[in-house]
Amino acid sequence: MEWDSSWNIGINSIDGQHRNILRAINALEEGKEQVLKKTFAALEAYARIHFDQEMQLLERHQFPNLAGHYREHENFLLQLRKFEQACLVAGDTQALIKEVRLYLVNWLNVHINEVDRGYVDFLRSKGVT
Ligand SMILES: [Fe+2]
Ligand SMILES: [Fe+2]
Repeated sequence: MEWDSSWNIGINSIDGQHRNILRAINALEEGKEQVLKKTFAALEAYARIHFDQEMQLLERHQFPNLAGHYREHENFLLQLRKFEQACLVAGDTQALIKEVRLYLVNWLNVHINEVDRGYVDFLRSKGVT
């Protein structure tokens, strides 16, 4: 999956982080246990960096729906761990990894275009670019 310019929300730091997450999703491939662990760990690290920075930005400007936003991030991290476990126990990971990547790309699309878009106007009104 390639980055689609319609996924840019117009806040540079956030757009860069979302791109890194997509890159980490694309890097998930069928592989041995150690390789899978490494690629899942990289994806989790990029997601955590992004979630932390997003929450800091929203907190600093006192965004009203912080709790809901936080929950969405936590749910994602839980789901990611479940996928990792499922992939690690699966004998043939090729089909599963494909499914996982599809799910994650769909998640990223919803995260950006439905969840994050909910704060763009708010942050812009606070002068964030
Ligand atoms: Fe978010
Ligand atoms: Fe985000």
